Amino acid sequence: MLQPGLFRRMDESPDALFYDTPRLVTHLDDAAIAAVTQLYREYFPVGGVVLDLMSSWVSHLPSDVTYRRVVGLGMNATELAANPRLDAWLVQDLNQNPHLPFADAEFDAAGICVSVDYLTRPVEVLRECGRIIRRGGPLVVTFSNRCFPTKVIAAWQMLDDEGHQELVERYFAEAGTWTEIERLDRSSALGHDPLYAVVARSADGESEPSTRQERTSS
Ligand SMILES: C[S@@+](CC[C@H](N)C(=O)[O-])C[C@H]1O[C@@H](n2cnc3c(N)ncnc32)[C@H](O)[C@@H]1O
Repeated sequence: MLQPGLFRRMDESPDALFYDTPRLVTHLDDAAIAAVTQLYREYFPVGGVVLDLMSSWVSHLPSDVTYRRVVGLGMNATELAANPRLDAWLVQDLNQNPHLPFADAEFDAAGICVSVDYLTRPVEVLRECGRIIRRGGPLVVTFSNRCFPTKVIAAWQMLDDEGHQELVERYFAEAGTWTEIERLDRSSALGHDPLYAVVARSADGESEPSTRQERTSS
C-alpha cells in the first residue's frame, strides 16, 4: 500500500499556478533526449495513434517516423500549441482529475517523459492509461535525476535512481491494467543526464477501438 504521505509536495498550491508560465526549455540534455527518442522508435508502432501525456512544446518522437495521430495532454496551452508533433492537445490537471477523456483503446501507445514524479495519483493515471491504450500497446515512462523540487512528490525526494524505478514499477503493478513490466537503463556516458525507463504493455484495453474503425470507414 502506497501511503498518502508519500504523495505530499512542498508546494501544495494548485498546479495551474506553477505551470501558468510557459517553459519553452528542454528538461534533459541531448544524449538523454536521444535515448527517449530511441525508446519511442522501438516501442511505438509506425502509423499508430500516440498519446504524449504530461506534454510540453516538444514530444521527442523520431522526426522521420509518421504516426497517424499524436495527442498531447499537459498543463500549459502556450507550450502545447507550440508543439509541432501534436495533432490535438488539451490542458488537464491530472492531480485534480486523473480520468483521461479518451475512449477505451483509442491509442496504440503512450509516453510520459520526465513527469511521472509530479503525479499525486499515479496509480489512477496509469490505470486510465491501461484503459485507453489498446491491449498489448506500450506505455513508456522515462525519467532522469532532475526535477522541479517544490512540485515533486515526497517519495521521489526520498528515493535514489533505483528507488525511482522500483516506485514506477509499483505504480504499474498496483494499477492492475499492465503486463510485461520492464525496467530499462538507457543512460549514456558519464557526464550526461541519466535516462531510466519503466515500460509495460496494456492488459486491459480492448484490442481494437470501435471509434477508430468508424473513422477509417467514413
Ligand atoms: C519537466 S516537464 C516535461 C515536459 C515534457 N514531457 C518533456 O519531456 O519535455 C513536466 C511536465 O509535466 C506536466 N505536468 C505537471 N503536473 C501536471 C499535472 N498535474 N497534470 C498534467 N500534467 C502535468 C507539465 O505540463 C510539464 O509539461
